[in-house]
Amino acid sequence: MNQVDYLRVSLVDRCNFRCQYCMPEGEDLTFLARSEVLTAPELLTLLREVMMPVGFTRFRLTGGEPLIRPDVVEIVREIAAFPNLRDLSMTTNGFLLAGMARDLYEAGLRRINISLDSLVPETFNQIVGYRTHTPAARWQKVWDGIQTAYEIGFSPLKLNVVVIPGVNDREVLNLAALSLDREWHVRFIEFMPIGNADLFGERGWVSSEELRQRIRDRWGLEASQVRGNGPADVFRIPGAKGTLGFISQMSECFCDRCNRMRLSADGWLRPCLLNETGQMDLKTMLREGASVEEMRDRVRNLLALKPEINYKGRDSGTEGQFYTRTMSQIGG
Ligand code: GTP
Ligand code: 5AD
Ligand code: SF4
Repeated sequence: MNQVDYLRVSLVDRCNFRCQYCMPEGEDLTFLARSEVLTAPELLTLLREVMMPVGFTRFRLTGGEPLIRPDVVEIVREIAAFPNLRDLSMTTNGFLLAGMARDLYEAGLRRINISLDSLVPETFNQIVGYRTHTPAARWQKVWDGIQTAYEIGFSPLKLNVVVIPGVNDREVLNLAALSLDREWHVRFIEFMPIGNADLFGERGWVSSEELRQRIRDRWGLEASQVRGNGPADVFRIPGAKGTLGFISQMSECFCDRCNRMRLSADGWLRPCLLNETGQMDLKTMLREGASVEEMRDRVRNLLALKPEINYKGRDSGTEGQFYTRTMSQIGG
């Protein structure tokens, strides 16, 4: 069985974008009240005193959008200084990154995954649904964030593409080409029905194998590191500097190599993206004065149950009915 040592930590459920697949506009979105969100000291206590002692040594900061949290650089600095930390990373939409990348790097963050669903500003806007800049300026801000992070030295630098049929799937070759000349790792993610059943019903999803075939036909494709640490199968265009990853949760079950749990912004520890069974409210335990030993015991028990929970999640996962939280509320 896989060692479960990776925790995805959602810093905030809000976001400055409204990606169709994550928090579709027009849906009744509800957000947490500020008092419900873990404060930085609460979060750091949970990570250092509860999660690390039971075996979590790798953390990924997610959202919503983690960079809209005002104390994000401080949180990074504190976590980066944990003794025994093996990895700290972040998943961001990149919109605020250009102005923050240097501070994040200096605080100790070294690797970052950025969403980039399109190279065409109009398509990008159609997907991210954000309204404050012109389409070109919005896309450009994300692109500048990616360039800045690359220049500063974030490595590996991963770009996430959720492939939506009829919207951005025609750009797959152009997006794959970003891996040719720079050490950029482009990952194509099969679109999942989470909190977006209507959208999904209309569009469905494109399989990773279909995308790989298109790329093979154009350049050829070699396996780079199939079955890595995370959910991606990694390939490379022959001679390319970067790689191409495929996250295929719809066409292929990777639950048997799941190494992660999730902590939501309001302190719920959730053993599986697709299944809420066993989730526990660590924030309330902490606020009501539970000891760290007691919380560790509870988390250890949950770890023991995780393999079984993973498969239940998979079985009920593709129905789209099971989720009471959207992707942004769970933390991606
Ligand atoms: P690294 O490989 O460590 O860089 O990270 P990652 O790929 O886990 O992180 P990222 O936040 O970039 O995740 C990319 C996407 O993979 C997510 O947005 C999800 O679509 C998918 N994903 C990540 N973890 C899981 C999981 O546990 N289950 C499923 N079904 N999908 C996941
Ligand atoms: N299907 C697949 N991936 C999703 N993400 C968000 N919602 C979905 C979905 N419905 C991914 C985005 C982003 C990360 C935060 O979550 O690619 O990289
Ligand atoms: Fe925001 Fe990320 Fe969800 Fe898009 S995918 S709405 S950027 S949290």
